[in-house]
Amino acid sequence: MDEVFTLFERHINPGLAGLLRFTGLDRVEDRAEGVYVWDKSGKRYLDFLGLYGTLNLGHRHPRVVEAVKRQLDRMPMSVRVLVPEPTARLAARLAEVTPGALSMVFFGNSGAEAVEAAIKLARIYTGKPGIITTEGGFHGKTMGALSLTPRPAYQDPVKPLLPGVKVVPYGDAEAVARAIDDETAAVIVEPIQGEGGVRIPPEGYLRELRRITAERGVLLIVDEVQTGLGRTGRFWGMEWEGIEPDLLTSAKALGGGVMPIGATVGRPELFEAFRENPLIHSSTFGGNPLAAAAALAAIEVTLEEDLPARAREMGARLLSGLQKLAAEWPRFIEEVRGRGLMVGVEFTDPDIGAVFISELAERGVLTAFGLNNPKVVRLEPPLIVTEAQVDEALGKFAEALAATGRALEGIL
Ligand SMILES: Cc1ncc(COP(=O)(O)O)c(C=O)c1O
Repeated sequence: MDEVFTLFERHINPGLAGLLRFTGLDRVEDRAEGVYVWDKSGKRYLDFLGLYGTLNLGHRHPRVVEAVKRQLDRMPMSVRVLVPEPTARLAARLAEVTPGALSMVFFGNSGAEAVEAAIKLARIYTGKPGIITTEGGFHGKTMGALSLTPRPAYQDPVKPLLPGVKVVPYGDAEAVARAIDDETAAVIVEPIQGEGGVRIPPEGYLRELRRITAERGVLLIVDEVQTGLGRTGRFWGMEWEGIEPDLLTSAKALGGGVMPIGATVGRPELFEAFRENPLIHSSTFGGNPLAAAAALAAIEVTLEEDLPARAREMGARLLSGLQKLAAEWPRFIEEVRGRGLMVGVEFTDPDIGAVFISELAERGVLTAFGLNNPKVVRLEPPLIVTEAQVDEALGKFAEALAATGRALEGIL
């Protein structure tokens, strides 16, 4: 056993180490470039997981790396009692690339922190505690964000959670209308559920939510942590419905796959609290110059290379290839679905999916389950993926399915 793997198992997460061993991924990563990752033995993998929607530009996109190196040599951290230039410029850029009145930004370091800030801003602005979230929704695992992530396996061991949270079925706008009461501050929703298993809501859902929340005086928070920066084939996932929320959360791909950063973007009224109390919410590292430089470069590359269009093109190719495979393996695959390069393969049983993931890893393609849905294997390759790489992965999927069939022969 590799010494590094043993250190991980002994000092970080023995349970995860066990899972990795089970799927044949008990290997140590070494380096990465574009759509490829190499482990310490020199084995090369096609990264079709993309750090759960983080690596939209692939690993180490040269323009992001260059921007970070430049900032690193100048001033990586803000002293906080002076104003950081990349951070201020990034906030202004986010105001430009988000719809309508969204123009104020709070910076954290992760998706969960972006959601925490949204919860606090919504409560402060409305003076109400209640948040409505959706079944299968995933908004992070810090205590506030976890309270909006209704999965018993994550929530039950750490209860009590934030009070005032209601859970409604995803895709059902009427259920939200019924759940709103005098104590409701906000509704939080993903344009497409990522960890819930790439669940795409019915057309018009987000528009209906916008109409209902506006009518009832409730805030709408759209969580774009996973769907943002071109993943679904538009710059933001909500653009498919052309809505303007009150608050938007972003993270993952915002850091260009090089730096961690989270952002909560909102209408100016929602940030009035900072005028009275400038430190009502803060983060030492949030929006540090190094991460902000990465995010500025990530936004430019996404727009200049028109990566949303690439996501649509490559996503259509991937989806149609997968649909053919699904037709050949109805015993294993229940459904294939996706938008842009946010694609999910729903297996008839989580154990079949696990064998498939392991057979795929053996053949040099990385994937994983949705955190809230172990039946769905999600595919989120970098948006810079080429046709040849999509076709190569499809070939490996076919081989892995055949191998899964052989491995399970006699068992099923
Ligand atoms: C929609 C959504 N919101 C929030 C989060 C939490 O982000 P992080 O893991 O950076 O805290 C995730 C992570 O998967 C997510 O998919």
